[in-house]
Amino acid sequence: MQTTQAIQLKTPRQLRYMRQAGKIVAEVLALLGEHVVPGATTAELDALAEAEVKKRGAVPSFKGYHGYPCTICASVNEQIVHGIPNGYQLKDGDILSIDVGAIYQGWHGDAAKTFAVGSASAEADRVMRATQEALRRGIAAAVPNNHLGDIGYAIQSWVEAQGLAVIRDFVGHGIGKELHEAPQVPNFGEAGAGVKLRPGMTIAIEPMVSAGDWRVKVLDDGWTAVTADGSLSAHYEHSIVITKDGPEVLTRVA
Ligand code: MF3
Ligand code: CO
Repeated sequence: MQTTQAIQLKTPRQLRYMRQAGKIVAEVLALLGEHVVPGATTAELDALAEAEVKKRGAVPSFKGYHGYPCTICASVNEQIVHGIPNGYQLKDGDILSIDVGAIYQGWHGDAAKTFAVGSASAEADRVMRATQEALRRGIAAAVPNNHLGDIGYAIQSWVEAQGLAVIRDFVGHGIGKELHEAPQVPNFGEAGAGVKLRPGMTIAIEPMVSAGDWRVKVLDDGWTAVTADGSLSAHYEHSIVITKDGPEVLTRVA
């Protein structure tokens, strides 16, 4: 999907703010990971995330976005993305995808990671590792003069070679002054297709992978997306900037 909206190339000063937003998101995500234990509720994790984002001088970006009510998305097992935190108590063997977004001085950071609660099943472990590797491969393809489709191709070809499926209904995105900017960054695609990647582009790459089929359903809350066949799903996301020397991950703890 090509948008006609211009893609903003960030200046060095803008990138400094985005690095800080990214660092805050990465720190909060890492901290949340330490609290992903049996018995914890996703609402508790959300409250912790909100406090930790604010403590760092940033503002939660998801809260209020098209009416979304929370700081994090917390998606358990067959939930893919946009799970709304609630009183659900995590239990041993669950997997939990946490997505965090923050705005620092007007600039956005966005990242996600799937955590095992206690001990993960072999199947859960496989889908988590494959999705993390898919993100790594997608990032590696984000170099100047490659095309947008090279990112999606790198992700999709890896995921499908593992016998897993790429979610189609949700995609990565440009990021900067807004959480979602042009271009859309699909996790599937054709090598060489789409816009040419240039230094100064900032994008969020976020593969979502199903252990079964890629089809999704959205629950009655209007947000939570689940695999239609109930398969486990994992989600990893980084915000990056494309530099002349290659991709720089913004959402990594320094
Ligand atoms: N990383 C997700 C995305 O880019 C999180 C958005 S949550 C929302 O779609 F609430 F803001 F929609
Ligand atoms: Co995102």
